[in-house]
Amino acid sequence: METGEMKSALPDFGAIRGDSAALGRKIPDSAKKIIEVEELRRDFQVGDETVHALRGISFDIREGEFVTIMGTSGSGKSTLLNILGCLDTPTSGEYRLDGIPVRSMDKNRRAEIRNRKIGFVFQSYNLLPKTTALENVELPLLYNPAVGAEERRLRSLEALQKVGLADRVQHRSNQMSGGQQQRVAIARALVNDPVLILADEATGNLDTRTSYEILSLFQELHQAGRTIVFVTHNPELSRFSSRTIVLRDGHVVQDSLNRDLRSAKEALQALPVEDD
Ligand SMILES: Nc1ncnc2c1ncn2[C@@H]1O[C@H](COP(=O)(O)OP(=O)(O)OP(=O)(O)O)[C@@H](O)[C@H]1O
Ligand SMILES: [Mg+2]
Repeated sequence: METGEMKSALPDFGAIRGDSAALGRKIPDSAKKIIEVEELRRDFQVGDETVHALRGISFDIREGEFVTIMGTSGSGKSTLLNILGCLDTPTSGEYRLDGIPVRSMDKNRRAEIRNRKIGFVFQSYNLLPKTTALENVELPLLYNPAVGAEERRLRSLEALQKVGLADRVQHRSNQMSGGQQQRVAIARALVNDPVLILADEATGNLDTRTSYEILSLFQELHQAGRTIVFVTHNPELSRFSSRTIVLRDGHVVQDSLNRDLRSAKEALQALPVEDD
């Protein structure tokens, strides 16, 4: 990685400034593989017709990578993400999550893994309506018997603080902007300290400025060492992550490292002020 070039192109990162090569942190080959997929296929039966949503997908994702999965509508992105998130199972092929073959797990174990190891962020936020930010973030911890009420509250407050919502913890879903609701969803995804964050069109409902704010949050999480898989149909957004996997008709047609990594904070600062 051209560290020198990278640094000169970087804006002031405030608290995270000075991180080695900041955004372009290189993942060593020795880093643990969090995701290993081999020849994944997913067929859907619709009446007499079989839809081949995934036609043999193979790749690995290592700990600390920020990967964008890109492709046009219907290319199989959500189908793939649902399998990676253990919300769905493939028709054939192998998926190992954090070294464990998902096929070998029963339904309960998969649900447990999903709750403990994976944080989801969706386009439509999926918050409970008329429920406070704090209660929404506490939700995944309710299923974790090792965490008592007080710890649940403290961890949730900490997660909300991390996403910049310390002053909105008692606001209900309908009392927050789209960007704030998505921040709550990200705090909820973080609260269980997952090994993997999966986002499906996480900025799809947001305006440009708010999208950059959310992307900037993902970049901070990445710099803090989180593994992130970010699905989008928007080629612009792939420039904010370190690697792009492109799907077409259920195949991987490109898998490449991003050379001209863009800082979301910088993009945000470059927006015209009158956009506010
Ligand atoms: N439950 C289902 N039953 C039948 N077909 C499905 C199902 N889910 C997805 N498909 C089909 O699989 C293909 C891939 O769908 P998928 O939702 O993964 O696309 P996508 O890349 O996420 O698209 P978008 O950008 O529009 O969200 C599509 O042709 C879709 O019609
Ligand atoms: Mg989709």
